[in-house]
This record gives sequence, structure tokens and C-alpha cells, in this order.
Amino acid sequence: MRILGIESSCDETAAAVVEDGVRIRSSVVSSQVSTHAIYGGVVPELASRMHLEAIDPVINQALTQAGVSLDDIDGIAATQGPGLIGALIVGFSYAKALAWARNLPLAGVNHLEAHICSLQLLDNPPRFPFICLVVSGGHTNLYHVKGPGAFTLIGQTRDDAAGEAFDKVAKMMGLSYPGGPAIEALAKKGDPEKIKFPRSMLGKDNFDFSFSGLKSAVARHLHENPDMRSDMSGIQPAHVAAGFQMAVIDVLSTKLIAAAMDKNCSIIGIAGGVSANQTFVKSLAQRAARYKIKIFSPPLSLCGDNAAMIAARGWEMIRNNQICGLEDDVYSRVKSVVPVV
Ligand code: KG4
Ligand code: ZN
Repeated sequence: MRILGIESSCDETAAAVVEDGVRIRSSVVSSQVSTHAIYGGVVPELASRMHLEAIDPVINQALTQAGVSLDDIDGIAATQGPGLIGALIVGFSYAKALAWARNLPLAGVNHLEAHICSLQLLDNPPRFPFICLVVSGGHTNLYHVKGPGAFTLIGQTRDDAAGEAFDKVAKMMGLSYPGGPAIEALAKKGDPEKIKFPRSMLGKDNFDFSFSGLKSAVARHLHENPDMRSDMSGIQPAHVAAGFQMAVIDVLSTKLIAAAMDKNCSIIGIAGGVSANQTFVKSLAQRAARYKIKIFSPPLSLCGDNAAMIAARGWEMIRNNQICGLEDDVYSRVKSVVPVV
């Protein structure tokens, strides 16, 4: 079954053709990041307008790169939520119109479930059951994944998402947007042990997260050391970046390993924008190895928002007859995702 995936929940317009939920025939991503970078974050109205301009060429490019036409497509999958409403409407309406005109089944995909399904696209995907952290600019959600489509939310952030903390700390330090890659690069020159920022663990048996205290601690440190911001080439900012990054990695890794032990899982998956952080992936893998737990993370091309993961999740939904109608609409629900199963 050949699925056309469409993603437009935030600042990437993406389309992909995926066969049987696993073989990527094409995956095209048009990023708006350089436009939003001027403003230091995503401007929703601007995002919607840019999706409108990009959606048609991006879908055509995905079909061309896959060497197929619409006649060869068996189903459409599009992100229904969560995300920016105006941005979602562009991709989802396009998908509804296409599905109606072509008489094809349409899956309205949950963006977070799709991030989990990005691991299915690996050559050697993780076996069920596993623990999966979806960690991005909008979410830090911990799932117990018991089988295809069987996701139970067991923890989430109570305030900022981990990626959001990276972006906000980067902004405070005068680094570019998005903050994650900028902090990771700067941290390479610093010592993660030099400045000990707080770790918010919220109790041992609790799988929720909190990053706003850490963000405030970094703000306080910068306020108390005013010369640092004007000396971005110096070693002090690198120590701040490294100390902050290690605090995030420490909390995420501790909670992930605790959840895996609690649920008797020997596999942990990570997905979403922050899973592109190689310092995180390596550090987590090292720690997890001590407990005989294996780590799975997507290749860089599938860490951030893409449509291949939307098609992978949509394939599962269409096979299970979880189909949308023209009356279905998008949903935002950013930061308060309800457990699915
Ligand atoms: O999944 P994604 O592309 O979009 C959302 O759905 O939010 O994630 C974007 C987030 C941003 O907050 C960005 O700073 C973060 O992922 N990110 C990183 C890295 N690359 C991207 N965070 C830490 N380290 C990175 N290397
Ligand atoms: Zn995402």
C-alpha cells in the first residue's frame, strides 16, 4: 500500500511517499526556519502563509521523486494535530480535498504518534514493547508503546518542553534560532561539570518533567555574570551551554531508564527534534547499556518534522480502518495531549 504523507503542523511543509509503512520512496521537507529565525521563534500567521505557497510544489516534488503519479497512491495521511491551527489547516484541507477528489482513504494523524512511528522507518526497527520519548520544541512526552498504534502516555512536561528550554536559553545567550543545534555546538567547547544547574526530577516514581526552573537558573546565572554575554567567543558561555545541556540530558536519561525498568522494557526509543542532539543520544546509550537497555533513535533526516513518519502512522491507521471524513477538523491541543490507548 502506497501512502502520500502530508505534514504542516509547525514551520515545515513536508510530503512523502511511503510503501507499506516502512519503505520511503521520497521525503521532501521545505523548512521555513530561516524566515522565522529573524523573529527568534515561529510566527504562526507567517507559517500558515508559507505553507500555502509551499504545499503544492512540495507534494508534486514528493510524487516526482518517488517516480509515481496520484494514480499510484492508495491512501492519504495528513497531520490533524496537535500544532498551530492555521498551519495544520493548510495541509489537512489539501489532504481532504485530494482524498475526496480521488476517492482515497484519509488518515488524520496525531503528530506525536507519527514521531514514534519514525522509528519504524529504521532498517532495524525496535521490537515491541518499548518506552519512547517524543522530545521536541512543543512536547516532552513519554510513552509506553505496547504494539503498533498502542501508545500509552505515562509522563509529560508540566511547563516548558525540552526543545523550548533549548530555544529560550539560546535566546537569552544571544544565540541563533533554533537554539538546540546552537547550544549543542557551543557546549562542545565547554565543561559540563563546571556549572551545576538544577535537575528537576519531581519524585522517583513520577515520569513527568519540568524545565522552567532550569531555564530560570540559567537566566539567574547570566544576570549575575553580565560580562559573559558580551564575550560569546570566551569559555564561560561554553560552560553555561554545556552545564545546561547536561542538566537536560541527565533528567531525560534518568526518567527514561526508570520508566524502562518500571515497565520491564529493554528498549528505549527517542524521537523528535531534540533527538537530533548527538551528545544526548551518546550519553543515554552509555547509561542505558549499564542496565542492558538498547537505544533507538531516528537518522537526522527523520528527527525533525517530516512527512515520512506521517505516512508510516497513516498506513497503520488506514489498515485499521481509522479513516477521516470531510467533516473532521484539525486540533491544536499543544502541551496537553490526552493518552491515546
Ligand atoms: O520536532 P521538531 O522539529 O519540531 C517540533 O515539533 O517542535 O523540534 C524542534 C525542536 C527545537 O526546539 C530545536 O531547538 C530542537 O528541536 N532541536 C535540538 C537540536 N536540534 C533541534 N535540541 C537540542 N539539540 C539539537 N541538536
Ligand atoms: Zn514534531
